Amino acid sequence: MEKQISQAVIARLPRYFRYLGDLKDKGVERISSQELSSLMKVTASQIRQDFNNFGGFGQQGYGYNVEYLYGEISKILGLTEKHHLIIIGAGNLGQAIANYMNFEKRGFIFKGIFDANPALHGKQIRDMVIQPMDNMESFIKENDIDIAVLTIPKTGAVEVANRLVKNNIKAIWNFAHVDLNVPKDIQVENVHLSESLMKLSYKLTKEQ
Ligand code: NAI
Repeated sequence: MEKQISQAVIARLPRYFRYLGDLKDKGVERISSQELSSLMKVTASQIRQDFNNFGGFGQQGYGYNVEYLYGEISKILGLTEKHHLIIIGAGNLGQAIANYMNFEKRGFIFKGIFDANPALHGKQIRDMVIQPMDNMESFIKENDIDIAVLTIPKTGAVEVANRLVKNNIKAIWNFAHVDLNVPKDIQVENVHLSESLMKLSYKLTKEQ
């Protein structure tokens, strides 16, 4: 895609995708921007503007074809391709992510899980066995891994990220509480539940 899409628009796409998926599952074939607007509590003009970034998708007087729009957004989000993931850090968070089956429906396939703690090696999580960190490099190559999920403390995260970069990982889903300084062509998405909780706290404080 030639056109530069703003991060704000991209951040809204997964929500459109979720709503359209629900509509599709309910057998809804088409929806107007007004109907989608009242369902999602986003203005109809925002929806039209967002979709105009990708050529509109809609037809005057018809609305949006749900299946088509769902398919197009899924292409834009790269969800029509399969991604192979590994998890680094098989503690509470790493195991919770490994056990969450729904990611696979979106094409995110968990291939392996690694941890530095020998006491965990050999333990089975779903169809994966927790492996030592020494196996990581060869595993990435042999299994065509493109995304690494970092669920380790911040102390080890930078070093592990550097190892991942050296082994041509394409993206890091970073839960460690540290900013990773990786080359520009490596995509990093930081997820910090505590930041979300602080936002909630702010909203609560504002209400008082
Ligand atoms: P945990 O202590 O249950 O698990 C951490 C695992 O990482 C352990 O099994 C440990 O052996 C392993 N580990 C430590 N250093 C390693 C290294 N250098 N290489 C490979 N494995 C290593 O902790 P939990 O609850 O799973 O949290 C993991 C990390 O994620 C913590 O540092 C925590 O601060 C952070 N966290 C982040 C959240 C977020 O929203 N971003 C939410 C919850 C936790």
